[in-house]
Amino acid sequence: MSRFSQRFSGHVAVITGASAGIGRATARLLGENGVRLVLNARRLDRLAEVAEPLGATAVDGDITDPAVRARVVEACRGRCDILVNNAGYGEPGPVEVVSEEDARRQFEVNLFAPAFLAQAVLPLMRKQRSGHIIQVSSVAGRLGYPLFGWYCATKHALEGLSDALRIEVSPWDIHVVLIEPGPVRTEFFEVTKAKVSPQMTQKASPYVRYFDAVDDIERDFMKQATTPEKIAQVIVKACAARRPRSRYAVTAMAKATVAVSKFLPRRLLDWVCRRQFRIPRAAEVD
Ligand SMILES: NC(=O)c1ccc[n+]([C@@H]2O[C@H](COP(=O)([O-])OP(=O)(O)OC[C@H]3O[C@@H](n4cnc5c(N)ncnc54)[C@H](OP(=O)(O)O)[C@@H]3O)[C@@H](O)[C@H]2O)c1
Repeated sequence: MSRFSQRFSGHVAVITGASAGIGRATARLLGENGVRLVLNARRLDRLAEVAEPLGATAVDGDITDPAVRARVVEACRGRCDILVNNAGYGEPGPVEVVSEEDARRQFEVNLFAPAFLAQAVLPLMRKQRSGHIIQVSSVAGRLGYPLFGWYCATKHALEGLSDALRIEVSPWDIHVVLIEPGPVRTEFFEVTKAKVSPQMTQKASPYVRYFDAVDDIERDFMKQATTPEKIAQVIVKACAARRPRSRYAVTAMAKATVAVSKFLPRRLLDWVCRRQFRIPRAAEVD
């Protein structure tokens, strides 16, 4: 899909989390369309594999680090047309059990880093009087899912922040777009599973039963999963649009979730979520 080459002529894009999944697929698609790329992720070897064939600049490091964000902006060399705030992960666990440190880290990566990176590129975009800021949110930005409370909180916060930002920067023709994918086949679930702490799943945990069905739940979700390339196509379409929508829900599951969350009474939504996540009944917990 190199049909946007003309539209993107001379354009520069920053993509965070470009060493895997959605970020990598987006880098390849924007690269094919002639965009000069500045790519970020922590694993330099994986990032270099993506960057080198595209002639992109790789800026390795943790995006929560202000010095790394400064290097990203420096690599733009005075121009930034597209920012894809994509780096993120899902902190798993019941709200009560996730440690304060892990909860704060989740907000650092999924909310504060994208917000501060947007702050850093906005002077360039305002000077150009144009720009697209793409915020990779999730259906979890629309609905709260059990065992992902902190993750959902970061994505809900990202949605609120992005709505405010969109209105603030509209006089400069800068567009802020939320991408809301349903499940996508990437490293996301692997990363999440590796973060489940032994305290959550040990017998003494009040929530131990919640983890019995985790594999079944994952299987259900993955049956409806799409590819990162599909999400990348939507991102690139939004970047090419002169008047993009404020939100793009991607996958049938995401679209259905958004619709249902608008119209179903909350009590009914909770019931559906309890069934979907096999939440035990009162008699089944100590
Ligand atoms: N997969 C899904 O089902 C799904 C659904 C809805 C929304 N999303 C959202 O999509 C985005 C991308 O996720 P994905 O599915 O593509 O997952 P992924 O395959 O795990 O990719 C995540 C990317 O983020 C990078 N990253 C993570 N923490 C970082 C940090 N502190 N600093 C810099 N880079 C960091 C990772 O690279 P390094 O490890 O090399 O740093 C990797 O390149 C996330 O925001 C996620 O919430 C995913």
